[in-house]
Amino acid sequence: MPKPKPQPAIRIQGLHKDYKQHQVLKNITLDLPPQRLSVLIGRSGAGKSTLLRCLNGLETPDQGRLSVAGIDLNFPDDARDEAKDQAVRLRTGMVFQQFHLFPHLTLLENLELAPRVAHGRLDAHTLRRECEDLLDKVDLAFHRDHYPSQMSGGQQQRAAIARALATHPQVLLFDEPTSSLDPQLSEEVLKVMLTLKREGMTQVMVTHELGFARKYADWVVFLEDGVVVEQGPSLQVFGKPKDPRTRDYVKGAA
Ligand SMILES: Nc1ncnc2c1ncn2[C@@H]1O[C@H](COP(=O)(O)OP(=O)(O)O)[C@@H](O)[C@H]1O
Ligand SMILES: [Mg+2]
Repeated sequence: MPKPKPQPAIRIQGLHKDYKQHQVLKNITLDLPPQRLSVLIGRSGAGKSTLLRCLNGLETPDQGRLSVAGIDLNFPDDARDEAKDQAVRLRTGMVFQQFHLFPHLTLLENLELAPRVAHGRLDAHTLRRECEDLLDKVDLAFHRDHYPSQMSGGQQQRAAIARALATHPQVLLFDEPTSSLDPQLSEEVLKVMLTLKREGMTQVMVTHELGFARKYADWVVFLEDGVVVEQGPSLQVFGKPKDPRTRDYVKGAA
């Protein structure tokens, strides 16, 4: 008997989002695979961040269906469903370009905050051990009691990934995680993402790092002007793009 196909980690059907008169996402339909690294690529203004933010409730779509980490949302009906919104937030983690660590908390405190406050974790000892392990995993154990301002951008971004992991998300979302880092520090961050990929974490990344995407992404989505122009395995989108717009965008990706 053929194996049943794994359910997509994320299913997007007919998604629309407008800002006033401006249609930013136009009828987006996509499946992103579980336990894989997917990337959203395209020029500035294509709608990548808006799409990513729709996946964890930071933006509310106007129309369409979303299934994220086992939660189904139907817009506009579910637009004000606080319980579903909260559930999606609890099951997804987000990493931003500008790290967004809390400056007045140490690294360890940054990691412990969301599990305690949003997830109601009361097992302080176990939580501390988990957070220490996570800092170890991103090679920051030494900095556990340091404040974000005492660290490099690459270290802060790795801490931001550890913080996102501390809530045990089913899906990790990254919006240009390396855009404000120089190449060497970017590499440290991308290495962490590759470790998570090997461990089977579902990751979705908006990126301009086409070389990295070409080499390591399992699934690539090319957006232009609020529309999915092309999607597929990296080998196809980078190696044999079907659409001339994709071809033009990916040419030069080493
Ligand atoms: N909060 C907002 N209000 C109005 N327009 C916005 C807002 N956020 C994004 N936009 C517009 O939506 C379009 C897509 O933006 P964005 O999703 O940030 O694109 P990308 O991440 O691909 O650069 C752009 O034209 C941008 O100016
Ligand atoms: Mg963006």
